[in-house]
Amino acid sequence: MSVQKEIKRVTTKTLQEMKNKGEKISMLTAYDFSMARMVDEAGIDVILVGDSASNVMAGHETTLPITLDQMIYHASSVIRGTSRALVVVDLPFGSYQGNSKEALTSAIRVMKETGAHAIKLEGGEEVVESVKRILSAGVPVMGHLGLTPQSIYKFGTYVVRAREEEEALKLIHDAHLLQEAGCFAIVIEKVPATLAERVAREVSIPIIGIGAGGGVDGQVLVLHDMLGINTEFKPRFLRTYLNLHEQIVGAIGNYVKDVKSKDFPNESESY
Ligand code: KIV
Repeated sequence: MSVQKEIKRVTTKTLQEMKNKGEKISMLTAYDFSMARMVDEAGIDVILVGDSASNVMAGHETTLPITLDQMIYHASSVIRGTSRALVVVDLPFGSYQGNSKEALTSAIRVMKETGAHAIKLEGGEEVVESVKRILSAGVPVMGHLGLTPQSIYKFGTYVVRAREEEEALKLIHDAHLLQEAGCFAIVIEKVPATLAERVAREVSIPIIGIGAGGGVDGQVLVLHDMLGINTEFKPRFLRTYLNLHEQIVGAIGNYVKDVKSKDFPNESESY
C-alpha cells in the first residue's frame, strides 16, 4: 500500500498565524491551469485570480471590461491546478458596486462555480455593506485599498496614491473599517512604504503589498510581470525574475527555422 503525503492547504487562518509569527506571505496571480500548477508547486501561499486577467490574458487596457463569467472561467481553471495555495478571486468591475445583494450573488457564483476559497473586492467605506453581506454567507473577503485599478477613470492616472494627508487618513480609516467588517486580509497597492507599514502595524489582519514597500505582511505581483512575459510594464516596484518574453520568442523562432529548413522532424521524431 502506498502512503500518499497529505498536502495541507493554506487557509485564511494560516495567513493570520503567519502574520502573528512575523512570517511573510507570498502571493502571485494566475489565470490558467498550467501556470497555476507551477505557481502552486513552487510553494506560493496565495494565488490571486486577479481581474488583471483583463490586461494580461485578454489584452485590454484596463481591468474594467472583464466579466464575472470570464473570471469564473479563469478561476475554475486555476483551482484545478492547485493543491496547496489559498485561491482568491477578484470580483470584477460592475459585479458588486451597485448594491450588497448583487455583491453577494456575485460572490456566491464564484464560490459555487469555481471551488475557490475567497473573493477580493476593491474599496473601503463605499463597499463595506457588501463586504458584510458577503461575509454573512460565510465567504471570506480580502480587501484592496490604495491604487484600485477598477477606479482608474476616477483617478485618471496610475501614479502613487495617498501621498497627501487626507487620502492617507482615509486609507487608514478604510483599513480599520474592513478589518472590523471581517476581512481576513487587505491588499494595499502603490502607496508610500511608510503609510503601508503604519497600516500593517495598526491592524491585526495581514496586509499584502504591491508597490507598498517591505514593511507589510506579504507581497503580491502579477505573474506575467515578474516572469518578464509582459515587457511593456516596468514600474519601480516590479522585480523581474525571468525574461520569458525573449526566451519564448527565441524558442519559437528556432522552431520556425527548423520547420522551414526541414530539420524538424528528424527520423527519431517520426514513426
Ligand atoms: O488584479 C490583480 O492582479 C490585482 C493585484 C495587482 C493585486 O488586484
